Amino acid sequence: MRRIATGLASLDGALLPVLHEVNDGLGWVSDEDVAVVADVLNLSRAEVHGVLTFYSDFRRSPAPTHRVALCRGEACQALGSEPLHSHAVAALAGRPDVELGEVFCLGNCALGPSALVDGRLRGRLTPDALVAAVDEAPAAATALQPSATGQGELVTVYIPADASARAVGADAVAAAFSADPSVTVVRTGSRGMLWLEPLVEVQTAAGRRGYANVAASAVPSILAGTAESVGVLDADPWLAGQRRVTFARVGVVDPMSLADYRSRGGMAGLARALTLPSAEVVEEVVASGLRGRGGAGFPTGVKWRTVLGAASDVKYICANADEGDSGTFADRMLMEGDPFSLIEGMLIAGHAVGARTGFIYLRSEYPDARAALQKAIEVAYAEGVLGPDALGPGIGFDLHLRVGAGAYICGEETSMLESLEGRRGEVRAKPPIPALEGLFGQPTVVNNVLTLATVPMVLADGGAAYAALGTDRSRGTQVFQLGGNVARGGIVEAEFGLTVRELVEGYGGGTRSGRPVRAVQIGGPLGAYLPADQLDLPLDYESLAAAGAMLGHGGVVVFDDTVDMSAQARFAMEFCAKESCGKCTPCRIGSTRGVEVIDAIRAGVERDANLVLLEDLCETMTKGSLCAMGGLTPMPVRSAITHFPEDFGIDIPVQTGGPR
Ligand SMILES: Cc1cc2nc3c(=O)[nH]c(=O)nc-3n(C[C@H](O)[C@H](O)[C@H](O)COP(=O)(O)O)c2cc1C
Ligand code: SF4
Ligand code: FES
Repeated sequence: MRRIATGLASLDGALLPVLHEVNDGLGWVSDEDVAVVADVLNLSRAEVHGVLTFYSDFRRSPAPTHRVALCRGEACQALGSEPLHSHAVAALAGRPDVELGEVFCLGNCALGPSALVDGRLRGRLTPDALVAAVDEAPAAATALQPSATGQGELVTVYIPADASARAVGADAVAAAFSADPSVTVVRTGSRGMLWLEPLVEVQTAAGRRGYANVAASAVPSILAGTAESVGVLDADPWLAGQRRVTFARVGVVDPMSLADYRSRGGMAGLARALTLPSAEVVEEVVASGLRGRGGAGFPTGVKWRTVLGAASDVKYICANADEGDSGTFADRMLMEGDPFSLIEGMLIAGHAVGARTGFIYLRSEYPDARAALQKAIEVAYAEGVLGPDALGPGIGFDLHLRVGAGAYICGEETSMLESLEGRRGEVRAKPPIPALEGLFGQPTVVNNVLTLATVPMVLADGGAAYAALGTDRSRGTQVFQLGGNVARGGIVEAEFGLTVRELVEGYGGGTRSGRPVRAVQIGGPLGAYLPADQLDLPLDYESLAAAGAMLGHGGVVVFDDTVDMSAQARFAMEFCAKESCGKCTPCRIGSTRGVEVIDAIRAGVERDANLVLLEDLCETMTKGSLCAMGGLTPMPVRSAITHFPEDFGIDIPVQTGGPR
C-alpha cells in the first residue's frame, strides 16, 4: 500500500490516482489506508477522507463477489430500467454475494437498458439476462481488444471493438471469425448504426458489405456468402445522408493505427497549424465559428484567444471527457473509434495558446475508452507525435490521462479542475475564469472531446470551410446522439438545422416499442422535454433557446406514450439531489425539497399550493445557484409541467417560467 502511494506521489494532483490504485487493487479503502495515504502525500487525514467520501467509486467496505450497477439514466428509463431495477432487487434479494447499485448513464443509451456487471458493460438487458449475466464468468472486461488479429489473406473483416458493440456480443463474433485461418479481423470503432450491432463488415471489390446483428453462429454463412447482407455500408442512405466531419473516421479506421489515421487525412491539420503563428491558428478557429460541444456552446476560438493572451510560462490544455449526461455517448465513441483526432486537436490547441502539457479527464464509467486512450497515447509517444519534439524540434507536448471517480458534477469545468488537482469536485466561483486561472492556477483551455476532435478538420480545410456548414450562429455540424426508446438509435452527424422530427422519425424510425412518440428530451438530464407537437423545431442553439430548451451535448432521448412525465420531473430533482456538489443552498437543499414537493403533487396533496411552491423553488434554483447544475435542473421540471400538465393532475396548462 505504502509502495503504491509512494510510487504515484510525485504526480501533480496525486490523491485521486493514488486512491484509485488502492481501491482497485484492494477492493476498498480502509481507515489504515487513509492514514498511510495522508502520510505519504503530506496531507491531513481529513483531507484524504473528504476526497474519498466525495466520489462514489471509492468503497469504504470490502467489495462483494459480484457488483451490478444498473443504469437509471433517462435513456434507459425510456426502455424500462425502473421495472428492471425492481425485478433485480427481488431476484437478487437472497444473494449476499451480489451488490446491486445504480449509475446514471454508461454511454450505451441507444442499446439500453444497460448495466455494468462486474465491470463489464451489458446492453439490451431483460430481467433474465441481467440475472444470468451475474453468474457468467467475468470476462476480460476492460482489456483492449486487439485491433487486428489473424493473418488470413483471403478475407478482411471489420468488427467494432466499441463498448456498445461489445456489450451485445461483438467479441464472440470476432473470436469466431479469427478462428478461420483465411480471415483477417480488424477491430474498428462503431459506424454509429447501433441498432445493427454487432455489425460486421466484409471487404469486397464493391466496398465493405455489412451484416447486421451478427451472432457467432452466423459466421460460417457470412464467410460462405449465403447470409443476408444490409449492403455496402458507405452507400446506405442512413449513413450517406449524414455530414460526417468530426466522426469521419469513426467506424472506418483501425483506431490504434497512426498509419491508418494519416492515410485518412489525420495529422494534416496539425501539419498546417505548425506552419502558422499561434495567433493565426486561433483566428482560424474563430473564423470557423466552432462552439464548444460540451453544452454551453461558448465560441472556441474566443476562449483560445484569451488563453493565448494570458501572460504565463505555464499553460494547460484539458480535454473534458467526463460525458456524464444521460443520452450522450459521442465522446466515448470518438475516443474508442478515433482517439488520435482528440490527441491531434489537443496538440493544435497547445501550439495555438502556448501550452506544453495536456490532461484528458475521463469518466471512470468508460473502461474501454480508457484502454483505447492509454494505448493511443502510448503509440503517439512511440512515434514521436507526443513527447519532446511534438510541436517542432525541441518544442514538446506531454499528455496525461486522468480518470474521474463517479461524480457527475466533475463534468462542470471548474469542478473538473478541482478533481484534477486531487480535491473534492466542488465547483469554483467565477471569476477567475479557467482561461486565466485554471489548472494549478495557470491559464487553461478546457474543451470538450468533440470540440477538440473537430479542430484538426478546421485547420486542415480552413475555418471558412467549416463555417460554410450550419445555420445562423450555429456553424458546422453537430454529432447528435439518438437514444432511449427509438428504433434506430445511434450517431447522426448533420449540419445544424435538422429538425427533431427528421432526427427522431427519419433517422430514428420512431420508437423501438412501436408506440407513438410522446416526449423527447434534448440535452441531457438538465435539458427540456419537448412534446410530440414540437418535433418540427430545428436543432440549433438559437431555435432551441427560443423554445425554452437547449442543445447541451447533443443527446436526444425518445419516450413513447407510456411515459409518466411527473415521474420524469421528480427524477430531475432526484438526480440533482444525488449529484449536487453541495456548495450552494438552492441546489443542495432545493433539489431535495423539489423531490418532496413533486411527490406531494403526484399524490394529490394540496396540489395547487404545492405547484406554486414548486414554481417558487424552480425560480430560486434558476436564479440563485452557483452553476448550471442547480440552475438548469428546473428546465426539465418546468417543461414537463408546461407540456404534460395532465400527468400532474392539472387540467389547464400552468404558467411556469419554463418553455411556452
Ligand atoms: C453540471 C455540468 C456538467 C457538465 N458536464 C460536462 C461534461 O460531461 N463534458 C463536457 O465537455 N462539458 C460539461 N459541462 C460543461 C463544462 O463546464 C464546460 O463548459 C465545457 O467542458 C467547455 O468545453 P467546450 O467549450 O468545448 O464545450 C458541464 C457543465 C455543467 C454545469
Ligand atoms: S449549483 Fe449545485 S452543483 Fe453547482 S455549485 Fe451549487 S451545489 Fe454545486
Ligand atoms: S446508458 Fe443508460 S442512460 Fe445512457
